[in-house]
This record gives sequence, structure tokens and C-alpha cells, in this order.
Amino acid sequence: MSKTELLASTVVLLAISAAAASGLTGEASPIYGVRVPEGYREWRLITVSHEAGKNNDIRAVLGNDIATNAFREGTRPFPDGTIIARLAYVYESSPENDKVFPAPQSFVAGDPTNVQFSVKDSKKYADTGGWGYGQFENGVANPSEPLIKSCFACHMKLDPSTDYVFSHYSP
Ligand code: HEC
Repeated sequence: MSKTELLASTVVLLAISAAAASGLTGEASPIYGVRVPEGYREWRLITVSHEAGKNNDIRAVLGNDIATNAFREGTRPFPDGTIIARLAYVYESSPENDKVFPAPQSFVAGDPTNVQFSVKDSKKYADTGGWGYGQFENGVANPSEPLIKSCFACHMKLDPSTDYVFSHYSP
């Protein structure tokens, strides 16, 4: 391998490891081009929710700093740069935890199902209330256009004064 080839392959390797370290997979959601934001797992907790029925999951809603401040202060519309993450897990009973209780009562987060993001950019996403959307499974963007179209189609049913966000800040 020549010095130039060695240098070229080192640059490629560095680029790959930098991408891996940042948590970015390089995958973008259809339509909006939303990617997994760096460090989102360290964001602050906004609230939790549980969906019964077919989803049967338990969810954590997290916000980056801009989102968290807006939630706390009740700022609507959310400022550009807001990103809200919603992490969902299988909702399952815990026989292990239940051993310490007189009757089965403990439910916990099981395997992760998917992570969704709502990203505020009032110019880029002007046609959809300023919001871009993405859904990821194991860090991989869900490629389904109908699924990604369903995001705003449902969120837009909210009153515009909510800025199309369902969640409220849980202190
Ligand atoms: C049928 C309606 C519906 C669809 C479709 C839908 N959502 Fe939501 N979304 C909700 C509801 C209701 C909540 C709040 C309660 C919950 O999590 O179940 C929510 C919560 C969220 C949150 C937390 C912030 C907030 O607005 O409360 C994000 C982020 C989110 N959705 C993104 C998405 C993305 C991305 C998609 C498309 C892949 C999507 N949603 C599709 C109804 C919907």
C-alpha cells in the first residue's frame, strides 16, 4: 500500500468511527430527512405515557434543551431547533419484581420498539406546521412513506395553539 493509499484509508476509517461515535447512522427519514440526533438519550424527561391496545407499549418523551425550556415555560409555538423524542418499549409484567409483592402488580419497560422524533424548523418544514418527523428501529430509519405521512396527518388534528404537540410537561 502506498503512502497515499494508506492516508486515504485512514481518512475513511476516521470518518466511519466519527459517525459511529456521534450516534448518527447516516440514515434519514423519508420526506423530511430527519436523522437520529446526537446524544438524544441524554436529554431531559418531559413526560411518560402508556398506550394500551395493539401498541401495548410504555413511552418516555424527552426533549433537547430548546424543547425542555419551551415545555417548562409554556412557549408556543416551539422555537426552531426544538427536537422532541419519544422512546417506546414493550409494556410487560415483571414476574421478577412481583416476587416481592403480595399479588402481581409490577409492569416495566421491555425491549425497545421504536424511537420517533419531531423536529422544529419553521422554514424547512413550513408545509407541515414547521415540523419534520422520523421513526427509527434499532437506529435505522423506517423507510415507509405512508407511515411518515401519517405523523403530521394525525398531529395536525390538534388545535394550532398546541403547536401540534400532544405531550405536556410533567414536573
Ligand atoms: C393516530 C395519531 C398519531 C400518529 C399517526 C402519530 N402520532 Fe405522534 N403522538 C400521538 C399522540 C396521541 C401522542 C401523545 C401520547 C402518546 O405518546 O401516545 C403522540 C406523541 C408524539 C411525540 C411526543 C411529542 C408530542 O407531540 O406529544 C412525538 C415526538 C411523536 N408523537 C412523533 C410522531 C411521529 C414521528 C409519527 C410518525 C411516524 C407520529 N408521531 C405519528 C398521536 C399520533
